[in-house]
Formats: sequence, structure tokens, C-alpha cells
Amino acid sequence: MMARSSSGESCAESDKWTGGLHRFLCMQGGNHDGSYAKNSEAPASAITLCKPILLAAIRSMRLFAREDEGSHSCSIRVVDLGCATGYNTLATVGMVVESLRERYIGELGFEPEFEAFFSDLPSNDFNSLFRSLSGMDSNEKKPRRYFVAGVPGTFYRRLFPGGKLHVAVSLSALHWLSQIPGEVLDKGSRTWNKGRAWIDGAKEEVVEAYSRQSEEDLDNFLKCRKEEIAEGGILFMLMGGRPNSQEPGNQLGDAESRAKHPFATSMDQAWQDLLNEGLIDEETRDGFNIPAYMRSMEEVERAMLKCGGFEIQKMEYKRIREHSDQKKREELITDPVSHGRAKANLVRATLGPIVEAHIGPHLSEELFQRFERRVSSDVSLLRKTCFYGVIIVCAIRK
Ligand SMILES: C[S@@+](CC[C@H](N)C(=O)[O-])C[C@H]1O[C@@H](n2cnc3c(N)ncnc32)[C@H](O)[C@@H]1O
Repeated sequence: MMARSSSGESCAESDKWTGGLHRFLCMQGGNHDGSYAKNSEAPASAITLCKPILLAAIRSMRLFAREDEGSHSCSIRVVDLGCATGYNTLATVGMVVESLRERYIGELGFEPEFEAFFSDLPSNDFNSLFRSLSGMDSNEKKPRRYFVAGVPGTFYRRLFPGGKLHVAVSLSALHWLSQIPGEVLDKGSRTWNKGRAWIDGAKEEVVEAYSRQSEEDLDNFLKCRKEEIAEGGILFMLMGGRPNSQEPGNQLGDAESRAKHPFATSMDQAWQDLLNEGLIDEETRDGFNIPAYMRSMEEVERAMLKCGGFEIQKMEYKRIREHSDQKKREELITDPVSHGRAKANLVRATLGPIVEAHIGPHLSEELFQRFERRVSSDVSLLRKTCFYGVIIVCAIRK
């Protein structure tokens, strides 16, 4: 089977998941019901949760100023790595700039120029992001106090010149791997992930392959940021994660989260439905794997120590309840159809582009419909609660 990326390039099936994932991995663009912009409530809750830690880091960070030149030439560079399209990135970058700006004015008596870089994979819907940045999509009256640029590319490689960044944040993005490990695509081997779209509850060999990939990816990410962040600058990471006590094969923690998580039970059932209905063959079902891995705090700390060059200021594991909005939660509890639709929109928003790259737009829609039906018809799900685990790390470049 040949796959087609959003850029129209075609590549062999397994290369697509290994070398070529960055060409089509992205959140669903646009502003429709199945877009990331309309389905980013959980990442927004995660940001709210970690905001005090980020603000505390900004308040205590070293202020950069060029003593030898006029103060107006001082330029502070902030980057959001894995920015996607929605409100979350604009709100976070705005908050970082605003709190730094206040500090400069209050403590050094001048306002530096700020440059904000919005970085994501080239398949990201930068058009929607740029429209929001130019104010075309919003009624926001507040002036934007920073210059902007989009930076397409994978954060597992170098994106900026050495020592130029002052604040680098990456929010709900680092649990996405750079590729599906090659062994997992080796049909018939022990690492072939039969009957599952993801690794939660998968065979040890499959989980280990993902775990090795995650380690390699985080090492690469840190090595690149170590080069790019100026001494005294901040690296702030918020990523999907798990507590140290939880084995990697248990990515989600508890039975209710597993039952409700969009990557787990209902996703496997939806693929099985397509297979049972003769719409796809077994190899196509088993050849689809979600490139995500929830690291433990230990795994993250180990990578930071191995990389060196950073001092960890804070590292925490926290859990986020899905639908933090009580009203929405109550509405969904009484309405299984809306619940199914909401969950299906969430998976469209996050997995739509990679599912489409695997089976094409028509079958992709069929899959999401099966997913929606599965969720809507299981009323026991309504009273279950799904939690998302996150790891928050704030580090200073030494
Ligand atoms: C769940 S979204 C989070 C978006 C945003 N930071 C937020 O909090 O709403 C994850 C983002 O990470 C991006 N991403 C995944 N892998 C990436 C990589 N290797 N390099 C750059 N961005 C990546 C995806 O394209 C997606 O936009």
C-alpha cells in the first residue's frame, strides 16, 4: 500500500511511520467541530494547572540586557514548540511576554523587544494560526506586544541558532514520538502490535520498543535545546506522563481512564468493527499504531541528567480530569449521543490526519463513525471518569 501525506508526497507503507511521520503528523486544522482548535480543552486545563509554575519560573529568571549597546537593541526570544493552532499557544506566549515585560519595566526601567516563534511540524495548520495572530479571527482588542514568526520543523532536530532562545516552552506535545519504532512494523515478529492501536496493555516487547524510541527522542530534543537556549534561559515542558510507580505497559493508570481514553478500548473496537465488516484487512488494522508515549518522571529525569546543561527547578506529576468544566460534564452524563460525538470529535482532532494517511479519507470517516457509535452505545461510560496524567518540568540552562 502507498500512503499519501498532506503535502501530496507518497511513500512506502512502513517508511511513512518511521522516516516520514513528520510529514503528516499534526492536529486537525481549521475551526470546525472536529478541529483541534475546538477540541483542546484537556491541554487548556493542563496549561491552567501548570501556569503558577511557569509564572514562578519567569519571575525568578535572569533578565537579559545588552550592557554594551543601547537597551532598545535587547531582544528577548520566546518559542512554543508544538504550538498547534488554537487559543492555548497564543494565551501562553502572551502570558510569558506580558510577565517578562512587566519585570523589565519594573526592574530595569526599559521595555525590550520580544520575538515569539511558533513552531510545529510542517503539516500543522499554520494558516489558521497566522490568521489568529493577525487578529483576523478574534475580537481581541489587546495589542500584541511581540513580533512573530512561524518555524516549521520537528523539535527532535535543531530549529534555532545556538544560544539564541531565552524561554522555550513545549505544551502537551512531547509525548508524540518522532516515529513508530521499526520493530513494531515488522509483521509476524513479537513486536507486531496485533489487535491494538496503541501500547496501553500491549505485549512487553511492543512497549519496550516504544520506550526505547521515547528515550532516543527525548535525548535528541534536550540535546537540541541545550544548544539553542542561552545560559540562564528557561526550558519549560508539559507532556503526557505517568507516575514512577506505574509500569510503561500501563500508560493510563486506572480502569476507568482506560475505558474512556480515546486511544484505548473504543479505538481498538472501532478498528475491529472495520475489520469485521470487511472494510479493511487484518494487516491494515494491525499496521496502525499511535505514535504517543507517556513517560515516567524517572525517565524524564534520567534524560535530563544524561544531557546535562540544565538545572531542574521543578518537576511534578499531576492528573487532569477530562471535562474540567462541571456544566459540560453534567450535560454529557445525561446524553450518550452527544458524549459519543464529543469523543469522536476529540479523536478526529488528534488522530484524524494520521488515520487518513493510513486508510484514506473515506475509511477514516467510517472509523470515526464506528468509534462514535461504540462510545454512544456504552452507557456505562457516562459515569466513568478519565484522567490524563501530565509531567511538568521547569529547568534553567546552566
Ligand atoms: C496536543 S497538541 C498541543 C498543542 C498546544 N501546545 C496546546 O497545548 O494546545 C501537540 C502538538 O505537538 C505537535 N508535534 C508533535 N510532534 C512534534 C514534533 N516532532 N515537532 C514539533 N511539533 C510536534 C503536533 O503537531 C501538535 O500540534
